[in-house]
Amino acid sequence: MEFLRILVFIAFVLARSEAQQRQSNISLGSSLTPDENSTWLSNSGLYAFGFYKEGNGFSVGIFLAGIREKTVVWTANRDSPPVTSNATLVFTSEGSLVLQSREGNKYIGDSALSSSSASMMDSGNFVLYNSNGRIIWQSFDHPTDTLLPTQRLLAEKQLISSASESDHASGIFMLAMQSDGNLVQYPVKSTPLTSSNAYYASDTYGNGGNVSLVFDSDAHLYLMNSSGVNIRNITNKGYYRKDTIFLMRIDWDGLFRLYSFSLNVNTNWTAEWASSNDRCDPQGLCGLNGFCTLIDQEADCKCLPGFDFVDKGNWTAGCERNFIADSCGNNNKSLRYTMEELPNTSWEEDTYSVLEILDKESCIQACLDDCNCEAAFY
Ligand SMILES: *[C@@H]1O[C@H](CO)[C@@H](O)[C@H](O)[C@H]1NC(C)=O
Ligand SMILES: *[C@@H]1O[C@H](CO)[C@@H](O)[C@H](O)[C@H]1NC(C)=O
Ligand SMILES: *[C@@H]1O[C@H](CO)[C@@H](O)[C@H](O)[C@H]1NC(C)=O
Ligand SMILES: *[C@@H]1O[C@H](CO)[C@@H](O)[C@H](O)[C@H]1NC(C)=O
Ligand SMILES: *[C@@H]1O[C@H](CO)[C@@H](O)[C@H](O)[C@H]1NC(C)=O
Ligand SMILES: *[C@@H]1O[C@H](CO)[C@@H](O)[C@H](O)[C@H]1NC(C)=O
Ligand SMILES: *[C@@H]1O[C@H](CO)[C@@H](O)[C@H](O)[C@H]1NC(C)=O
Ligand SMILES: *[C@@H]1O[C@H](CO)[C@@H](O)[C@H](O)[C@H]1NC(C)=O
Ligand SMILES: *[C@@H]1O[C@H](CO)[C@@H](O)[C@H](O)[C@H]1NC(C)=O
Ligand SMILES: *[C@@H]1O[C@H](CO)[C@@H](O)[C@H](O)[C@H]1NC(C)=O
Repeated sequence: MEFLRILVFIAFVLARSEAQQRQSNISLGSSLTPDENSTWLSNSGLYAFGFYKEGNGFSVGIFLAGIREKTVVWTANRDSPPVTSNATLVFTSEGSLVLQSREGNKYIGDSALSSSSASMMDSGNFVLYNSNGRIIWQSFDHPTDTLLPTQRLLAEKQLISSASESDHASGIFMLAMQSDGNLVQYPVKSTPLTSSNAYYASDTYGNGGNVSLVFDSDAHLYLMNSSGVNIRNITNKGYYRKDTIFLMRIDWDGLFRLYSFSLNVNTNWTAEWASSNDRCDPQGLCGLNGFCTLIDQEADCKCLPGFDFVDKGNWTAGCERNFIADSCGNNNKSLRYTMEELPNTSWEEDTYSVLEILDKESCIQACLDDCNCEAAFY
């Protein structure tokens, strides 16, 4: 009898943990905490919505829970600081999702939503439904830095890179699906967004409004116009293979890449395709007075001669002088300046004066003769 009771108890526990894990229809009143019941899993268990570790605390988002390499694909309120383990995520009886923490309450999605249920789909899409079962909000419509197969980047929407591989707050690069039909990459802070600031473009402007970037179920990236026609292949083919999962992401380094992960082989994410082979392409990687060089295909930032990093380990902070420059009002004749040459560096244009000069020597002399000249691009 006792034995039977234990068996029944074990069966009950298993069934309960099973029900808890496979819950993809989330009902009003449900809640999550970072330490216990921290996520709602999709049916297959591949994707999870809920708390994940970020820095010294927790963020709420969607991640690949079913693989060893827990990979974040979406973050709610990504620029809010992580919360402590005291936080609770509540799907309120009014039908909104609220993250309650010491810092106050924050809505996920829209504060005005009154949903009736929610679902973590096996596609990686987290969906809120109204009482008629219609979708009223979905994470696929609000991408951060990642697209998943079957997800689209609609006209006038952007992907923004993460700050670093482990910090999912907004970084410094953007991939914009513009209303003119062009898919373009810019540094986030460039104003205005004009072609001179762009470092990647699909050259598909003028294809009508509502061109969208499609990441289809075949893991093929292409641009589609509003008639549903593929107008430009971004990748030349689909990458679909059995037992393999895919994602497309604008990485912290500014390139966007299509990644695969094999569920059978004990490997890591593999980049199948990248928007460029030159990791120095993204403008602004190195910050002020810095420049990018390639070392074994990897980008490396260096400072101009006479400059050091403002913040070692943070390229975007740029470089500052390691000596005190004299002002133009100083007439000390014994001060002497020289120019140093940096071959083969690409420079982000920021022109002070353009001269018509025939050779390198006159270029050097013209700069040395001008007290306000600090660098010249020949
Ligand atoms: C979720 O469950 C509720 C109540 O059990 C049900 O009315 C609703 O249709 C379900 N929603 C989905 C998307 O399955
Ligand atoms: C976790 O979920 C289970 C089953 O729904 C529930 O019994 C338990 O109280 C929850 N734990 C917390 C801390 O909410
Ligand atoms: C949780 O909250 C209590 C009371 O507000 C506080 O004393 C404690 O430090 C908090 N714990 C964490 C991990 O933040
Ligand atoms: C784009 O699509 C939206 C919504 O489907 C529609 O309201 C709008 O008129 C379309 N714009 C163009 C230029 O086709
Ligand atoms: C979409 O592209 C096709 C093929 O180029 C073209 O025939 C069609 O008119 C385009 N649709 C729009 C709305 O521009
Ligand atoms: C896209 O690539 C496919 C082959 O994968 C090709 O058949 C198709 O014509 C290409 N489309 C465009 C618009 O270049
Ligand atoms: C997989 O790659 C990521 C990113 O490069 C790295 O942080 C992680 O340590 C790798 N994992 C394994 C098991 O090699
Ligand atoms: C790096 O420097 C930039 C520019 O000064 C700053 O906005 C950013 O917060 C810094 N990042 C880190 C991780 O310190
Ligand atoms: C002029 O510059 C030289 C070299 O830097 C320095 O040794 C000297 O003290 C300066 N003289 C004055 C008057 O500033
Ligand atoms: C600069 O680039 C040119 C052409 O690509 C190459 O021939 C030359 O060796 C490079 N110089 C240096 C210093 O890398």
